[in-house]
Amino acid sequence: MTFRLSQLIVLFLLPFAPLALAHEGATGVVKERMDLMDTQKEAMKVIGAMAKGKVPFDATAAAKAAHEIEVTAKKIPELFPEGTGGRPSEAKPEVWTQWDKFTKDAEALGVAANDLVAALEASTPDWKAKFKGVIDACKTCHKTFREEDD
Ligand code: HEC
Repeated sequence: MTFRLSQLIVLFLLPFAPLALAHEGATGVVKERMDLMDTQKEAMKVIGAMAKGKVPFDATAAAKAAHEIEVTAKKIPELFPEGTGGRPSEAKPEVWTQWDKFTKDAEALGVAANDLVAALEASTPDWKAKFKGVIDACKTCHKTFREEDD
């Protein structure tokens, strides 16, 4: 269980590493949303390191990171105004052609992150399952709305 979760975390976070450089040309709202996503990635790393047992579990620090994801999730839709696709953005046109699904996916992330905050604050052992729920919420949106390979 722990092993599988840690693999999931590694598989999920690794592909992001080389992208930061490819996106140096981004400006304005595109840069803002990339920065927001990077903030979320960093928060995921904090919790991921605990889930993997690399750093000692710290419920307060983990809850703070989860809360950050919850708060930033709410800002996702406003950072995707129409007409902001295309290079260097990796947002697919589907963001705007399937706007309802896109905003639902953003909402789902907020809910998943809130569930995780609650599990961490209550120190329930199923926080790892809730963490996986957050990973899934990131992936669900990326699958439809983000260009994975460039
Ligand atoms: C509602 C949809 C949605 C959700 C939910 C979502 N993302 Fe994203 N993410 C995107 C889109 C679209 C892009 C591409 C943005 C662009 O390039 O303009 C992106 C890009 C990224 C990037 C690359 C940023 C960069 O510098 O180019 C990272 C890292 C990332 N997301 C992490 C996450 C993490 C971690 C989560 C979950 C905690 C998450 N995302 C949840 C839609 C989403």
